[in-house]
Amino acid sequence: MNDLSALPADFAWGAATAAYQIEGAVDEDGRAPSIWDTFSHTPGKVVGGDTGDVACDHYHRWPEDLDLMKALNLDTYRFSIAWPRIVPQGAGAVNASGLAFYDRLVDALLEAGITPNATLYHWDLPQAQQDRGGWPERETAERFGEYAAVVAQHLGDRVKDWATLNEPLCSAWIGHLEGTMAPGWTDLTAAVRASFHLHLGHGLAVQALRAAHSDLRIGIVNNLSPCEPATDREADVAAARRADGHTNRWWLDPIHGRGYPQDMVELYGVDMPIRDGDLELISAPLDWLGLNYYFRQVITDDPTGPAPYAKMVYVPGVRRTAMDWEVSADGLEQLLVRLHEEYNVPKIFVTENGSAYADTVGPDGQVDDPERVQYLEEHLAACARAVKQGVPLAGYYAWSLLDNFEWAYGYDKRFGLVHVDYTTQKRTVKGSGRKYADIIAAHRRRARRAA
Ligand code: FCB
Repeated sequence: MNDLSALPADFAWGAATAAYQIEGAVDEDGRAPSIWDTFSHTPGKVVGGDTGDVACDHYHRWPEDLDLMKALNLDTYRFSIAWPRIVPQGAGAVNASGLAFYDRLVDALLEAGITPNATLYHWDLPQAQQDRGGWPERETAERFGEYAAVVAQHLGDRVKDWATLNEPLCSAWIGHLEGTMAPGWTDLTAAVRASFHLHLGHGLAVQALRAAHSDLRIGIVNNLSPCEPATDREADVAAARRADGHTNRWWLDPIHGRGYPQDMVELYGVDMPIRDGDLELISAPLDWLGLNYYFRQVITDDPTGPAPYAKMVYVPGVRRTAMDWEVSADGLEQLLVRLHEEYNVPKIFVTENGSAYADTVGPDGQVDDPERVQYLEEHLAACARAVKQGVPLAGYYAWSLLDNFEWAYGYDKRFGLVHVDYTTQKRTVKGSGRKYADIIAAHRRRARRAA
C-alpha cells in the first residue's frame, strides 16, 4: 500500500530542473559558453547531435513554466543558476543581465508562494575556466567560491535554500574518468583531483553563502546508489565494497569530517592535493543533505576494468525505465536510512527522483504515463517508510518539472511531469503531473485535518 501518512505535515513538495537542460538562450544577454556547449557541439558526444541551444526555451517561457508549477501544487522549485550567465569568463567581470534573469524568476516564485531552492553548480562550468584547467586545478575551486559570493550577495536576501553542487560524482567520475559527460576526459588522476577540488569549491561556497547572509539553509546534492554484490563470492563482495566507496563513501565521508576513505585513496593511488585546513573547510556543518536517487547497483568483480574494478551486472526480469535503469524503490528507503543512521544527517531532501519513459501525446491531446505514476507512488511510499524509521526527511523534488535536454542522451529521454513538444514548445501536463498534484493536495488535506 502506498501509505504516505507518515510524511510530516510540513513536508515540502517540489520539482527540479537544471539550467543547461531547460534554459536555452545560450548566447543571450552576455552568457558565454560552458563545457556543455562545447561538449554537445562536438560530433558524436550527444545522441542525435542534440544541444542545449534552445532546450525548453525556459529563459523566455519561464512565466508559463511558473504557471505549470502552480498547476502541480508545488511548495518549492529546485533550479540551478548558470555560472556562465553570472561570471561568463569563470573569473572577473560579473554580468548584471545574468543576475537579472534569476531576479525575475525568484521574485515571481516568491510572489506565487513557491519557495526557491537554488543550486549553484549543475555541471555548466564556464568554458573559459575549463581552458584554465577546469576542476582538476585548485584555481577552479577558488573561482567557484567567488562566483558563489556574487550570487549569494545578490539573491541571498530572497533565496534562503541553497545547494552548492549537484552530483559532484558525475562531474568527476563521468566527466573526467568515464568521459561520457563534459569535459569528456578519461584520466583517473584528473578525475580524483577534480573530485577533491569540487569538494573544496563546495567548502568555499558554503563559506561565501554564510558570510553573505546568516539565515541561509545550505546543503549539497549527491547522487547515491546502494551497491549489492551479485553473488556471495568473496570477489564480488569486495567489488561491491569498492563500488560503494566509489559511488557513496567518497562523496559522503569528507563532507562529514571523516576525510577520504583510505581504501579508496589506496585503490586510486593518486596523490590528493590537500592543503592544511582544506578538510575542515570541506566538512563545515550543513543544514541539509540532498539525495538524488535513480537506481541500485548490483555489482560484480571487474579486475581488468577501470577503477574501481567493479561493474554493474544486468539483472534480468526486473522493471526498467527507458534509461534501462532498474526500478527499485527499496533502494531509496535503504539510502535514506543509511544517511540517518551512519552519517546522522540533520535533515534530508530527496532533491531528485524520477523516471524516463517514451511518452507520446495521444489523439485526445493527453499524455498518459502509468509507468511513471507507479514509479512516483512507489518511491514516495519508500520515503514514508523511511520517515517511519526516524529519517528526518523534509521534502521531495520530482525530476523533472519538464522534459528536457538529458545530457548525453539528448532529447530522447523524457523525465518530465510535463511533456514538451520541442518543435512547438507546447507544454502538456502528463498523467503523472496530475497525479502528483493530487498527492500534494491530499497531503495538505491530511495535514489540515491533523492540525
Ligand atoms: C541526474 C542529473 C539530472 C538528470 C537526472 C536524470 O543525474 O542530476 O540533471 O539528468 O540525472
